Amino acid sequence: MTTLVTGGAGYIGSITTRLLRSTGRSVVVLDSLENGHAAAVGDTPLVVGNVANTDLVTQICRDNDIDEVVHFAAYKAVGESMENPGKYFDNNVTGSQKLIDAITACGVTRFVFSSTAAIYGTPDSVPVSEASAVRCESVYAETKLMIEHLLHWYGQTRNLRSVSLRYFNAAGASSDSTLGEDWRFSQNLMPHVMKAVLGASPALNVFGDDYPTPDGTGVRDYIHVEDLAASHVAALDYLSNGGQTLVCNVGTGHGTSVLEILQATERITGKPVPHVIQPRRAGDPSECYATTMLAAEKLGFVATRSLDDIISSAYAWHVAHPTGHSAN
Ligand SMILES: NC(=O)c1ccc[n+]([C@@H]2O[C@H](COP(=O)([O-])OP(=O)(O)OC[C@H]3O[C@@H](n4cnc5c(N)ncnc54)[C@H](O)[C@@H]3O)[C@@H](O)[C@H]2O)c1
Repeated sequence: MTTLVTGGAGYIGSITTRLLRSTGRSVVVLDSLENGHAAAVGDTPLVVGNVANTDLVTQICRDNDIDEVVHFAAYKAVGESMENPGKYFDNNVTGSQKLIDAITACGVTRFVFSSTAAIYGTPDSVPVSEASAVRCESVYAETKLMIEHLLHWYGQTRNLRSVSLRYFNAAGASSDSTLGEDWRFSQNLMPHVMKAVLGASPALNVFGDDYPTPDGTGVRDYIHVEDLAASHVAALDYLSNGGQTLVCNVGTGHGTSVLEILQATERITGKPVPHVIQPRRAGDPSECYATTMLAAEKLGFVATRSLDDIISSAYAWHVAHPTGHSAN
């Protein structure tokens, strides 16, 4: 059994690749290295190229007897997607469509896809379930929803069974501090918190302290990246056991506020997190966290790591790799 992992040189993809190999799978990574790092792939076979290159994808499938695909490769910066929508529709949607065409032509029938909770936009209520309304508020989110729709139709027409995992907020690093998120590319909260605590930025901007939440700051569902990686193994096993196409939240089911993250970071690191309260940002919901019943029921997946695990692993990673994998 060989698994093709696209985007396996990136943050979540590299940690998932390592976990997949630990389950006994053989893995081939396809990554353009535009936002990833060869060092993060280690000794897993790496093909440097684009998922839209159908000849290359066909060659990889034939050379390696690929029978399942995990598709991480995408651009993910929400702000950039609003400034340059064509770049995102082209790379994320057209790239995925070409990839899916090529792999289904080679007989692949199992596919796990990195979707996002961003497709729920500002939810009417929390927790957010898979039955909640989708309300894309960015080009980035729309590209992910479009790929979910592609997967539905390739399921109808090409016998492709897929699991679209709607990630909530991925955070943390590998427990051995060798793989993590490169803060030069990330818009996520945790790398910004680490920059502030380590003095790599003057202060963290906290956007809004007047939300209708217990302490006024925004509440999100932070899931440890190693738990997230485990959800992909569970999704592949579900498909191997005959599971049908599924769209599924991946979160912890718990909301944590920005101030709670700051306080926990100060407690764990013993250092202050300089921060400045800024006005709310347009489009940021006050609260967003997941229902997790479907993942538990269908995939047997439940996140087990704590917020402290997230913060301590992120801190250790950033201390060891102050400029991401380029420091290696
Ligand atoms: N990080 C999060 O919090 C989060 C949340 C929801 C969804 N996601 C999704 O999860 C996936 C992985 O996210 P990440 O944080 O690891 O991002 P990342 O940028 O670290 O990894 C993405 C990888 O894909 C590669 N890539 C991009 N376009 C490519 C293409 N056309 N062909 C080949 N390689 C290409 C990049 O070089 C990079 O290594 C993405 O699809 C992202 O949209 C991430």
